[in-house]
Amino acid sequence: MPNFNAGPAAMPQAVLESIQTNLQDYQGLGLSVLEMSHRSPEFAEIAARAESDLRQLLGIPTDYAVLFMQGGASAQFALCVQNLDVHGKVAYANTGYWSQKAMNCAQSLTAVQQVTHCSEGKTIRIPDSADWAQSPGASFLHITDNETIDGIVFNEVPATDLPLVCDMSSSILSQPIDVSRYGMIYAGAQKNIGPAGITLVIVHEALLARSESQSLPPVFSYSAMHKAGSMLNTPPTFAWYAAGLVFDWLRQQGGLSAMAEQNQRQAASVYAVLDEHALYVNRVDPINRSRMNIPFTLADESLTEALLVGANARGFIGLKGHKSIGGLRASLYNAVTDQAVEDLVDYLASFAREHV
Ligand SMILES: Cc1ncc(COP(=O)(O)O)c(C=O)c1O
Repeated sequence: MPNFNAGPAAMPQAVLESIQTNLQDYQGLGLSVLEMSHRSPEFAEIAARAESDLRQLLGIPTDYAVLFMQGGASAQFALCVQNLDVHGKVAYANTGYWSQKAMNCAQSLTAVQQVTHCSEGKTIRIPDSADWAQSPGASFLHITDNETIDGIVFNEVPATDLPLVCDMSSSILSQPIDVSRYGMIYAGAQKNIGPAGITLVIVHEALLARSESQSLPPVFSYSAMHKAGSMLNTPPTFAWYAAGLVFDWLRQQGGLSAMAEQNQRQAASVYAVLDEHALYVNRVDPINRSRMNIPFTLADESLTEALLVGANARGFIGLKGHKSIGGLRASLYNAVTDQAVEDLVDYLASFAREHV
């Protein structure tokens, strides 16, 4: 079924089939990955391959550690502060719902400076980073690359002298990135990585060293987790395995350049139909329009329910907007097919024509 959920999101069909084939008997071993010890050589191989495929896909330099943690991106809202805040001050760009949440969490732990927020004129946009407030002495600058609910994405990595900590939950693996521009990247898995339950942390060794000096319980410490190969305690083995299958699938698709091309093309066709019909409203400036999550409202809001009923009848899943802002939202993660997007665009066009 065409699945436009914002998360947990669509998984590639080939990955679901591979999971199904191997579910009861992983490669003839006579047991499921669900039953496999995380200390077994078989799981060690699954875990190592996942990391090495991810490193290859994202071009992660060797001086960055890759951690597979738990607690979702929400846990990282706190953990990035607890591990990395060595100066008693952090800086945040507030570009939407999730960066506000991350900032609120940081405020309960340390001094926070908001260096920018989205400007709301006729359209909503992220101010140029050259115009952001300075935050000398802050331990890091936090950004949310893609605002999943507001549909706002950075069009460039902001210029800063501070280590950049980036919540990339809803845009990771959607395009090639230069990891070396970031001090740390984190992402909950349940969009472009795989099933919920695992959280990816990619952190430069200089920041990893900061966490050594913080007296944190080991499972919350980046350096302790790194030393234990992310297996200080029982990791979410099945999610880790499924993420590895997704990384392998991405490589077979042609890697992140191919994904970027697909995402660009699919998003452009949805924005085109929204812009063509006065019934649809998306207020994000084209420069910051997300390619992963496209929220929109109807000029006549009383038609929203009818649009959703029609979408349901066609088997479209997940078009209802987030409860905090309502309206509608189409999420176009990597596993969403061209056919699904084409069908959605046709439906939106015909609905608009019927309701002029
Ligand atoms: C950008 C972003 N950050 C953080 C979160 C929270 O993630 P989690 O549910 O993994 O804690 C989400 C969830 O959708 C998100 O989209």
